[in-house]
Amino acid sequence: MNKPHSPACERNRDPILAVLREHFAGARRVLEIGSGTGQHAAYFAAHLPQLIWQASDREENLPGIRAWLDEAALSNTPPPLMLDVSSPWPDDRFDAVFSANTLHIMAWSEVEQLFARLPHVTDIGATLIIYGPF
Ligand SMILES: C[S@@+](CC[C@H](N)C(=O)[O-])C[C@H]1O[C@@H](n2cnc3c(N)ncnc32)[C@H](O)[C@@H]1O
Repeated sequence: MNKPHSPACERNRDPILAVLREHFAGARRVLEIGSGTGQHAAYFAAHLPQLIWQASDREENLPGIRAWLDEAALSNTPPPLMLDVSSPWPDDRFDAVFSANTLHIMAWSEVEQLFARLPHVTDIGATLIIYGPF
């Protein structure tokens, strides 16, 4: 398949990477919510190889994310998870969570569900980084 492509991801990835380097310095397992094209997952996982980068999104975006991750062939990117924040969440745990350009796309009820579910998938002291047009 042709990989989906977001020019914005190429523009914002390095400023975001600088923040991730600092604030995910002690992290091990990152859950990315709403990975979109998968470009961020492939880029950040390549530049932060000490992290396991778990991409996720709604079903329709998983093939594109897989295409980016398959091409990158990194050892720290498990297959993307199907995760719609308003549906049951995976039974897994993370010590960091990242999401870019998602909260302003979601319905407010979905944003509320996201924050309500986070404590169930994160360890105490986990770090959450949200990027978006706030
Ligand atoms: C504007 S795109 C951003 C994608 C990517 N994070 C980026 O920065 O390019 C918004 C993303 O939010 C995801 N999304 C919207 N509603 C969602 C929900 N209820 N649960 C999980 N992801 C959702 C969409 O599938 C899409 O991938």
